[in-house]
Amino acid sequence: MFGNMRILSIETSCDESAISIIKAEKSKEKSDENYDFEILANIVASQIDIHQEFGGVFPMIAKREHQKALVPLLLKIIGNEEIASGEKDLNEENEEVKIKKQEKIEKIQKTLEREPELLEIFLQNIDKIQNPNIDLIAVTNGPGLAPALWVGVSFAKALAELWDIKIIAVNHMEGHIFSSMVPPSENAFSLPKINFPAISLLVSGGHTEIILVKDWMDYEKIGQTVDDAVGEAFDKCARMLGLPYPGGPQIGKLAQIARENNLQDENIEPFPRPMIHSGDFNFSYSGLKTAVLYKIQKLKILNLEINNSEELSKNQKMIISKEFENAAIEVLISKTKKALIENSASVLIIGGGVANNKYLKEELNKHLLEENIVEKIFIPRMDCSTDNSIMIGITGAMNYFKDGKTAEINELVADSGLSL
Ligand code: KG4
Ligand code: ZN
Repeated sequence: MFGNMRILSIETSCDESAISIIKAEKSKEKSDENYDFEILANIVASQIDIHQEFGGVFPMIAKREHQKALVPLLLKIIGNEEIASGEKDLNEENEEVKIKKQEKIEKIQKTLEREPELLEIFLQNIDKIQNPNIDLIAVTNGPGLAPALWVGVSFAKALAELWDIKIIAVNHMEGHIFSSMVPPSENAFSLPKINFPAISLLVSGGHTEIILVKDWMDYEKIGQTVDDAVGEAFDKCARMLGLPYPGGPQIGKLAQIARENNLQDENIEPFPRPMIHSGDFNFSYSGLKTAVLYKIQKLKILNLEINNSEELSKNQKMIISKEFENAAIEVLISKTKKALIENSASVLIIGGGVANNKYLKEELNKHLLEENIVEKIFIPRMDCSTDNSIMIGITGAMNYFKDGKTAEINELVADSGLSL
């Protein structure tokens, strides 16, 4: 499929409600296929503040927040003069138009039956929800939190019904792979040419996976966590240390101070590197979390004996953060290196929220780039590393360009366990 299109993309798999408009074009020059993208609009509403109160993401709260957020986000995007097509519906409300509109409303009422708050806001604003010249809707349908995913999927269906356009369902993890292809600052860019096979390391709050990327849209998952995801381990470790959610960035900051100041504590020794010698590409982070828990418990007893308070000192928190990070990241680097070598891959693509971790980036450069294990490492820019809809738009476009297949609205479902 060749051509030029405008895609509206929607992401609600976890705790970010995000909508983008992406322009995508596929062209051919001799035998070379080119893919050009332009991010026309992008908006994210994060629920972090709400989830912070509870120390983590609760699916039903995420669902409620997505329902409240989506229509206002869309209206903000449509309200942007550069984005709007200017083709407002000038039809007089004659009898035929009225009947058609009523039919659509009835369809939408059914589609949004299980998202009552979203339905209410949608119907209140239906006359303002004009199609901003969109050809296709891309929506994340998994993996993620089922109630949260459903809000995005149902919203996509309602819009597709209102605007009479098609939907393409996007795998969130494939989105994280494409997210690294967006350059650091430009919003208009060509998809980089990759020397396949590549290895993708996906590290987020819900996933830790190593993917063999044989070509775009041709993946083989060669390793994954057998229990907790690495981001989840960061979050849980932070919680045990009394740090706010999401814990990854907090642990990263404390660990950095400990490293820069060479802080040591004879009672805090290095944590185990789970499964580092397992011979496969799998991970385990639940044991590391337990090791941190036991260490904190021991330190509390010790602190009580020494200074009558079981509170951990700032230094102890920083050293635990550093030791946790050292262990968590050493395993990521070791398995990724093995995957690159065994698959003769010279390109590494990192994706997911943990890709923001400074120490991970430093270690990747030191052990993989400087040791010539890889030629190129793609790391997502900040707004593309955590959950976003830019990556969903790009992935939707790439899949559409591949075979033009779209989803059957009646058959499209959210699939929390969707896998690459
Ligand atoms: O990809 P993402 O936004 O959401 C999921 O799909 O899960 O990833 C969120 C995860 C959280 O666990 C968060 O703590 C972690 O990414 N994270 C970090 C950092 N920034 C975000 N982990 C370590 N260091 C960071 N700087
Ligand atoms: Zn994600």
